[in-house]
Amino acid sequence: MKTVYTHDPHQAGDYISEGKLVVFPTETVYGLGANALNSQAVEQVYHAKNRPPSNPLIVHLRELADASRVASEISPHAHLLMDAFFPGPLTIILPRHRSLPDIVSGGLDTVAIRMPASSIAIEFLWAAKFPVAAPSANLSGRPSATSWQSAAEDLNQRVHCILYGPAATIGLESTVVDCTENPPVLLRPGAISLESLACVVGTISTNVLNKNRSPGMRYHHYAPHAKIVLVSDTSNLDVLPRSAYIGISTPNHASKWMKCFVATSIEEYCHHLFEFFRECDRSKISQIHCEEIEPVGIGHALMDRLKRAAKSSK
Ligand code: TXA
Ligand code: MG
Repeated sequence: MKTVYTHDPHQAGDYISEGKLVVFPTETVYGLGANALNSQAVEQVYHAKNRPPSNPLIVHLRELADASRVASEISPHAHLLMDAFFPGPLTIILPRHRSLPDIVSGGLDTVAIRMPASSIAIEFLWAAKFPVAAPSANLSGRPSATSWQSAAEDLNQRVHCILYGPAATIGLESTVVDCTENPPVLLRPGAISLESLACVVGTISTNVLNKNRSPGMRYHHYAPHAKIVLVSDTSNLDVLPRSAYIGISTPNHASKWMKCFVATSIEEYCHHLFEFFRECDRSKISQIHCEEIEPVGIGHALMDRLKRAAKSSK
C-alpha cells in the first residue's frame, strides 16, 4: 500500500471517512486511527501494528458530548475528571455502549475514551466527524512514535495516510484511569499525575486487583533493540563500547559516550526518551544507560516506562 503524506487535516479526514487508516499527531504520542464505528477499519489497525486483538484501543473524541455515543454510563467521578482534564493527556475507562463494535475494546465490556488537546488532532477529529479508535503509531512492542518520522519508520506502506505535524510535546502516552471502579484505579501513569487526579476525585487506587481489566499490562512495551540499564549513581559509570546515556545529571566521561543526552528538566527527559531509544537503534547502540528519577508527578510515568523497557530488553 502506498502511504500518502499530508499536513491537511481535512484530507486525512477524507481518508479515515473511507474506512482507511490514518496516522495523526497528538500532544502525547502519534496515534494510528480508524473509524471506531467501522469494525473492518478497526481490524486493520490491529493488523497494521501486529497488535494482539485482546489489547483494546482508545477511542478519541472531538468533544465531550461524544462520550455518550461510545460509553453507556458516565459516573460522577468520570464527569469530574473529564471537566478537569479534557481535552488533555488523560484516558478514562467507562462501560461500553452496545453500538460500539466489540473489536475496539478487545472483547471487554468497557471502553477507553480520550480527547486530545493538540489543535491539529482536534481539527482532524472534526474533519472525521466520528470517534476515532487509535493506539500509539508504532509496531507492537516498539517505543511509541513521538514524531511523524518515527511513525513513518514503523508504518510506511502499512497505513493509507500520515498526517504530519509537530513532534508530540509531552512524549509519553496518556494517563489511563478506570472509572468503572470506585475509587477509580490508575492503570497507566502519564502526564496527569496521581497527585492531580487525587485533587479532583479524592482517592485514586493504584492497586489493579482485576488484571483482566487492564490488558495493556500483560504485554511487553517501549523496548528498543538495545539493552536498557537503569542507573541511580551517574558519577561512576563504565563507558562500554557502543553505549549511550540519557538522564538529567551529567554523567562521568560525558564526551566518551557514543550518544549522550542530558535533559534540563524531567519534562524534557520525558519528551526526548522514546526518540532517543529510536536514535540509539538507528546507530546500533547496544546498551542505553537511563538515569532513575524520583517517581513523583510525571516522574512516575517516566519511571514506569523505563522499568518496562528494562524488563522487555534482553
Ligand atoms: O496517549 C495515548 O494514550 C496514545 C495517543 C495516541 O492517544 N494512545 C495510546 O494507545 O497510548 P495504546 O493503544 O498504545 O495504549 C492504550 C492503553 C493500553 O495499555 C490498553 O490496554 C489500554 O490503554 N486500554 C484501552 N482500552 C482499555 C479498556 N477498555 N480497559 C482497560 N485498558 C484499556
Ligand atoms: Mg502503545
